[in-house]
Amino acid sequence: MSHTLSSIPPYVFYELDARRAKYRAAGKTLIDVGIGSPDGPIPAVVVETMQRVAADRALSGYPHFQSHPEFAAAVTGYLATRFGVTIDPARELLALAGSKEGIAELVLAHTGPGDVVLVPEVYYPVYTRSTLLAGAEPVFVPFLPDGRLDLDAITADQARRARVMIINYPGNPTTVSVSLDELARYVAFAEAHDVLLLSDLAYSELSFDGYVVPSVLQVPGASRVAVETHTCSKSFNMAGVRVAFMAGNAAAIARLDAYRSNIGYGVSTMAQLAGATAFLHAAELVPPIVAEYRARRDCLVAALRTGGWEVTPPASTMYLWLDVPAGFGDWEWVDALMAGPGVVVTPGLAFGDAGKGKFRVSLVQTSEKLLQAADGILTVGR
Ligand SMILES: Cc1ncc(COP(=O)(O)O)c(C=O)c1O
Repeated sequence: MSHTLSSIPPYVFYELDARRAKYRAAGKTLIDVGIGSPDGPIPAVVVETMQRVAADRALSGYPHFQSHPEFAAAVTGYLATRFGVTIDPARELLALAGSKEGIAELVLAHTGPGDVVLVPEVYYPVYTRSTLLAGAEPVFVPFLPDGRLDLDAITADQARRARVMIINYPGNPTTVSVSLDELARYVAFAEAHDVLLLSDLAYSELSFDGYVVPSVLQVPGASRVAVETHTCSKSFNMAGVRVAFMAGNAAAIARLDAYRSNIGYGVSTMAQLAGATAFLHAAELVPPIVAEYRARRDCLVAALRTGGWEVTPPASTMYLWLDVPAGFGDWEWVDALMAGPGVVVTPGLAFGDAGKGKFRVSLVQTSEKLLQAADGILTVGR
């Protein structure tokens, strides 16, 4: 029996699932904008690759422990053209079966009891859960009003015990964007305190209105202290394929590789070659996906504004991060939306206590459905 596992608090998303299932079982039609799972199709060119690989006898054995050479080449090319970043794929790259588990494995490979992991106060849940599984302590770094992390709030003792610091820009659920200068500030902090900086770049391609998302690896010298995760899940509608990568600091990648190779066999060849195709074709595949999210964002923001809500359209991600209307508790609001118009949203407290009073809407339904969701939100929130 794992005592550590038993001591971890319940997952809010389980609770949300249970409530959703209850309404579905009662025959209620729901508009689910709770989960961040892209509803668009896997690009045809990627599907063709998966079909080819599945039928290829030469590819049916165990995959490479690290990265398939074609995946490594495609990722290296993508990082160079998209960010102007050069990596040595043999030392500075590892294929992952999704960035969620890669993040968890990195934390588990680097921390243990007595160590601290610095986590943004509103966070994607795996940051804290992997920290707790490692027996380490998550320390929450507060946000400044503009969404940057308040590094001055970190005490000298916390900084001394910190092994890993996680940043997530563009942020889920906060939708906060970041500049390269700001990333340089985190790199400088990591260097000054000898902390491994982990940048979770799940939303690298989902940006609008001319904003181009930077990579931490663009900061000169970043690979001395930083690693970054990228994923095919959001950029290419490939959440079910499970392919991602981590790139950056060679020592951290080697440690992650050592951890992963003790418990697994590398990432499915089919997933890696699908990922290779996606990254090779990123320039054509990403724009239509982004255009669809932008149309949905604009539609939902306009509808909510018409109803008197103050909403700023986010420059990145596939979410709106909104205030729970006055007079509602977090679950009360979520329940009222499900019970009434049948709209499923995620309560902000799924992303930590600091998320209380907020809720997240994912742009994973058509504009038409999002308009219905907006209507439901406006009616219940009146
Ligand atoms: C910030 C962030 N990081 C990581 C992930 C996990 O992505 P993957 O599908 O690569 O595991 C998500 C998924 O929602 C996310 O929002």
